[in-house]
Amino acid sequence: MIPFIDLKAQYQGIEAEILDAVSKTLSSTQFVLGKEVSAFEEEFADYCGAKFAVGVNSGTSALHLALLAAGVKAGDEVITVSCTFVATVAAIDYIGARPVFVDVDPDSLNMDWTRVESVITDRTKAILPVHLHGQPADLAPLADIAARHGLKLIEDAAQAHGAEYHGRRVGSIGDLGCFSFYPGKNLGAYGEGGMVVTNSADYAHTVRTLRDWGQAAKYHHTLKGFNYRMEGIQGAILRVKLRHLEAWTEARRHNAKIYSRELEGAGVQLPQESPDVRHVYHVYAVRTPERDRLHAALQAKDIQTGIHYPIPVHLQKAYSEFGYGRGDLPVTERVSGELLSLPMYPELREDQIKSVAVAVRETMSSHG
Ligand SMILES: Cc1ncc(COP(=O)(O)O)c(C=O)c1O
Repeated sequence: MIPFIDLKAQYQGIEAEILDAVSKTLSSTQFVLGKEVSAFEEEFADYCGAKFAVGVNSGTSALHLALLAAGVKAGDEVITVSCTFVATVAAIDYIGARPVFVDVDPDSLNMDWTRVESVITDRTKAILPVHLHGQPADLAPLADIAARHGLKLIEDAAQAHGAEYHGRRVGSIGDLGCFSFYPGKNLGAYGEGGMVVTNSADYAHTVRTLRDWGQAAKYHHTLKGFNYRMEGIQGAILRVKLRHLEAWTEARRHNAKIYSRELEGAGVQLPQESPDVRHVYHVYAVRTPERDRLHAALQAKDIQTGIHYPIPVHLQKAYSEFGYGRGDLPVTERVSGELLSLPMYPELREDQIKSVAVAVRETMSSHG
């Protein structure tokens, strides 16, 4: 069996370091926030090349607070994509703001910036691109549009720890950047976690206040806040894992190269790296109109795959109130039926990748 991800393999390599960090945190009794979280914030800000980082309890909370800090209010519009995990859109909806969807570029699967200006209205407050699968969205033209129209640029970097755009780490390029540390992410906690990074002291202060009940000082609530604090144990675990992240990322990139070499001419479309980016391959997804047949064939051979994502957010029942329907975002809709994510994690071995590639090739060369 080849699993889609293998968190056990990773844990085995770092078990002693993790147990030591957890044990020290338990002894300190700093279960919520505390010095491990503060140290992780500093180290993660540094890793991203940002001045500030504020730890929260999930990537969704990070997005929610980043939008609030950027001044998004009920009734405002936020331009985003539908080709994403639902959390991107949920965070906009939490505020009572309205997601305005633009289609994605068919090569990168990221926000097609050429479509953004035509949907800007008096109510638009922010642009929220997603670095899908670990590949940076084209941020330079988006930053330019944001600057010309007085909008905030917020990056959903939940899948893209360490990804680089024109030599700079994502998350630190827009006004605010949001990360998830959900266990399966490239940098994953052993529970939930998230982070907002920014170069603005004001935004960092606001997010810091909002995550802890809007308190300026204990029991002095200057803002209507939330219980979105990061746990001490997660901070300690993430500090250990951050030290390994570069090696893991290089292993992912190496694995992606092997896949792309082994799948050349196999009858599926391979992920395309945009120019001048560092893709961190949270997901390695191939594309074929015969996705469902390929999915079933790999499953029959004990190869686990994933579909990210089968129904675009604008076609989800829960978000029907925003008035989008089939045909509104043709690229997003087409790729949702074509994408298949192959097993991808740092510890994946070359022989496993070759077995997956052989299985893909065999399936695509046989008739359905
Ligand atoms: C693109 C994207 N945005 C936001 C999130 C939300 O992160 P979390 O699950 O930590 O709330 C995720 C992952 O789950 C994601 O993939």
